[in-house]
Amino acid sequence: MVSPLLDLAGLTLEVNHLERGIRFYTHLLGLRLLTHDAAAGVATLAVNPYQTLTLWQPITRQHNDARLAPLRARGAAHLHYAWQVLEADFEGCAEILNAHGLPWQRIELGTPERPDPGLYFFDPFGHGLELRGINPDDERRTLFMPQPQPRPAYSLPVVGLRELALGFDDYPAMKTRLPRAYGFAFAKEQSERDFSQFTLGPRAEEDGNGTPQRWLYAWDPQVGLADMLGGEHALAHFYADVPDVRRRVVAEGLPFVDLPGDHESGLAVRDPAGHVFVFLPSPESSSAPIQEESS
Ligand SMILES: [Fe+2]
Repeated sequence: MVSPLLDLAGLTLEVNHLERGIRFYTHLLGLRLLTHDAAAGVATLAVNPYQTLTLWQPITRQHNDARLAPLRARGAAHLHYAWQVLEADFEGCAEILNAHGLPWQRIELGTPERPDPGLYFFDPFGHGLELRGINPDDERRTLFMPQPQPRPAYSLPVVGLRELALGFDDYPAMKTRLPRAYGFAFAKEQSERDFSQFTLGPRAEEDGNGTPQRWLYAWDPQVGLADMLGGEHALAHFYADVPDVRRRVVAEGLPFVDLPGDHESGLAVRDPAGHVFVFLPSPESSSAPIQEESS
C-alpha cells in the first residue's frame, strides 16, 4: 500500500496561558510568531517554511477555530512530541536548556556504535518535548526536508517537528483504523508495550539513527520515556493526498469537514479517540509555503 500521507504539517497544543506559551516558544525554541489573537485564544508560530506550532487557550462558549467547531477540536493535552536538530548541534542543546533553567533528561536510543540520543524536557503546560538529531545526508528523506532556520543564540536550534505520540484508549481498534481510515503507513510495533509507529510518508520506513523522516506514534494509556504521556484530544495537521484520504474517511463513516483552499481543499476529521486530524494538500502543488512577514 502506498500511503496518501506526505509529511507532518503542524501541531496544536492546549495551553492555560497564551502569553506564557508565546514567550516560551519564541524564546526557548526561537520560533517566529505568525499570528496572535488574544480574543480567539490563538497563536501560530512558524517552525520552518512548511511546519507550524499552534497554541490554543480554551475560552468558555467559544471555539478557537470556527471551521473546526463541528468536530469539537481542542489543542492537545499533555502531548509528547519531538523536535529535529542537526546532529552537529545536538550536544550544545543541554547548555541552552541549562541557561533557561530547565531540567532535562538524556536517554540513549541508539547503540554504542551508532548513538542516537534524545533530550527530554517539559514545557510549562505539561507537554513533553524531545530533541533528536538528524543527519541531513541520510538516504531516507521526507517530503519537506528540515533546513536550518535563523534562531537567536539563546534558542534551541530546532529545524523541524519530528514526531507526535497520541494516546488511544482502544489500542487494537486504533491499530486497524489508522491505516484503513486515513492511510497511515504502519511501520513497526514494540514488543514490550502497546506502541505502534506510523511513518508520515508514502511508505513505512525504519525509524531512528538520524532519519529526517516524520512519525506518528500511537500508544495505549501509558507513561512513556522520560515520564511523558501520549496526547489526548490532539489536533495535528498532515500533508497528504487529500482526495485519497477523503475516500477512506467517507467509507469509514467518520465525521469530517471540508476546508476550502485557494486551489485544493483540505479535510478535517474527528477520530473516534477524540483526536482531530487535518489533512492538507502539499503546498508544492497548491499555494505557497508559509509566508515570511515583510516587516
Ligand atoms: Fe519520542
